[in-house]
Amino acid sequence: MFALLPFCVFAQQSIDQRVEELLSKMTIEDKIGQLNQMDGRRDVEKIKDEVRRGTLTSIMNIVDPAVTNELQRVAIEESPAGIPLLFARDVVHGFNTVLPIPLGMAASWDEELIEAAARNTALEATERGIRWAFAPMMDIARDARWGRIAESFGEDTYMAGRLAAAVVRGYQGESLSDQTSMAACAKHFVGYGDAEGGRDYNTTTIPPRTLRDVYLPPFKACVDDGCASIMTSFNDNDGLPSTGNRWLLTELLREQWGFEGVVVSDWGSVAGLIPHGVAHDKRDAAQQCIVAGCDVDMSSRSYLLHLKDLIEKGEVDEAVLDEAVRRVLKLKMELGLFEQPYARTAEKSDIYSEEVLNTACRLAEESVVMLKNESVLPLGEDVKRVLVVGPMADAPYDQMGTWALDGDKTHSVTPIMALREEWGDRVVIDYIPCLTHPRDKSTAEFKKMQKAARKADVVLAFVGEEQMMSGEAHSLSSLDLQGAQSQMLEAVAEVDTPLVTVFMAGRPLTIARQVEISDAILYAWHPGTMGGKALANIIFGKSSPSGKLPVTFPRNVGQIPIYYNHKHTSHRAKGTEGNLDSIPREAYQSVMGHTSSYLDVAPSPLFHFGYGLSYTTFELSDIAIEKTAVTADDTIRVSVVVKNSGTREGTEVVQLYTGRKTASVTQPMKELKGFQRVTLAAGESRKVEFELPVSRLAFHNRDMVLAVEEGKYTLWLGTDSQNGLKTYFKIIK
Ligand code: BGC
Repeated sequence: MFALLPFCVFAQQSIDQRVEELLSKMTIEDKIGQLNQMDGRRDVEKIKDEVRRGTLTSIMNIVDPAVTNELQRVAIEESPAGIPLLFARDVVHGFNTVLPIPLGMAASWDEELIEAAARNTALEATERGIRWAFAPMMDIARDARWGRIAESFGEDTYMAGRLAAAVVRGYQGESLSDQTSMAACAKHFVGYGDAEGGRDYNTTTIPPRTLRDVYLPPFKACVDDGCASIMTSFNDNDGLPSTGNRWLLTELLREQWGFEGVVVSDWGSVAGLIPHGVAHDKRDAAQQCIVAGCDVDMSSRSYLLHLKDLIEKGEVDEAVLDEAVRRVLKLKMELGLFEQPYARTAEKSDIYSEEVLNTACRLAEESVVMLKNESVLPLGEDVKRVLVVGPMADAPYDQMGTWALDGDKTHSVTPIMALREEWGDRVVIDYIPCLTHPRDKSTAEFKKMQKAARKADVVLAFVGEEQMMSGEAHSLSSLDLQGAQSQMLEAVAEVDTPLVTVFMAGRPLTIARQVEISDAILYAWHPGTMGGKALANIIFGKSSPSGKLPVTFPRNVGQIPIYYNHKHTSHRAKGTEGNLDSIPREAYQSVMGHTSSYLDVAPSPLFHFGYGLSYTTFELSDIAIEKTAVTADDTIRVSVVVKNSGTREGTEVVQLYTGRKTASVTQPMKELKGFQRVTLAAGESRKVEFELPVSRLAFHNRDMVLAVEEGKYTLWLGTDSQNGLKTYFKIIK
């Protein structure tokens, strides 16, 4: 045991020197052990044996500090090299206090609040001994069939980068060595969200330019923000599984981007090269992945079993092993594990603290998107009796969504609980769930529901998805409401009482019919622990909805993939297509023109990216751009006056898009390049200013070089991706 030098000696040396010193004393077995990560959900005595033998660098999924501290003691006092362990967990959206799913967080467009909530999450998780969090996930997701869209920040590259960087800042805090900080892990590198057909783990076929312009930039943003680690993805892109892709993990990530942190495989994805069909066995897989630049083998034990032999036989250079170990040791030192290896003890626990819950509630409120409101919401003084129906009205577990590993459902505030608690004194609240869970097909309670609806001033229907309907390996081919939920809404809509439908789901569902028959629609995603309170606040107008869609809502599954920043194409749809009934039987050639569209559905989505209503209204005017000709290293300054033209306070998200018609390669119609939340009192106006570095407009040109191209651009400042004021500028030499 030689690792735990006295702190005073360490403090005098730089981390690099300390790493070298430690590395020089390690045996090949010690080193290989530092690249092996294991799941901790097994017999603790068996894990202890492994730790004692020095075969583990990191253990996942143990959140009991009594256990982690004991394992840590064994690592330090009894393992050959005495190197502390790093405890890891999927801390994806909150820890004990569950935040809205990342897709919901993204709907807030509020990076400051996301950062604050992520900081709280780090406080909770580090109290349980976790110092490495497998998040943020920043896969670009344009296919709602993919269950993991829930874990993403949606379809937009710029937005995903900004919000993921906020999570990294929140998790990693001011300094990694602070005991309340966790190393973040940007995942999944790369392209995983583009799984063919939306089937999880499926092949992706992303061409080099799209990979660079759409899928890689969020990772680059996190690398630039000091993200400590990166996780590879399961998918193979164009023939190469990421975990064995040397171009990706070494040439691009390390040599071009200068990333110095740790690369970890996804679960078993080193050995995953075998079923992918590019490795014969674990030995072959280990060889390919370590050489590619994957430092830590999560749970496949391929490195542990074969690296020694590979090195002895000269098939892997020991220098490659050293390089990977160096990075792991550096991370452990940066986290201060050699000085403070044990779970921190908080004087006052942050777990489920008032501050943590309040922030979670604000984020849940801001994540709710109002998609329709025919003057029903917020419920006013005249509402005396409310009927609450639907399986999500009281689903404390389901409302936490996917990856809520540490959320305790007994802490969840469900809509029915919050409505009763906050408004029960003033309003009679009847509750008939009708369905026990979202896949329940029973219609037995419908008559009773209709009778109660007749007596009510308004019906609040809570529908959506169970927790297990989205997330990893939970893809769907139909995005319609499950079970008898649609029938339940049809039945209640037959009664002439205003109907407010609230969706709580892990993804955009196909909701065209429900939008038609409801008087108001709130889309609340899976809102987490405080979801019910957030919704009650919005429904009764304590706060106004301010969420905006981070993802396009399709009219039907056949439209997928559908996203706002699609290319121009040579046969652009005009918006009139898709009416099959209007086509005469004798039509030979299409009477709708030859456009990129469907015969049976409009080319437009049901709701577009960036869309969301408020209880007040906003008007934009006076767009002004400082200079209409700029050079590549300039910054564009542009402003717009936003007026709250309604009668109550509210928040608008002003969105900046740019686009160009002609370039050396085809371009998206428009692309998000900035956004700001603006809170205004009734009647108040404010000039909102944006600074847009021209470098943000760079793309990979015809020569595959990242560059800003000269030419004419349109710039929109709007309240969503389709509505806004525009101006023009030129990029000149
Ligand atoms: C997921 C990762 C996750 C890992 C560890 C994998 O199956 O793809 O996102 O971090 O498991 O739990």
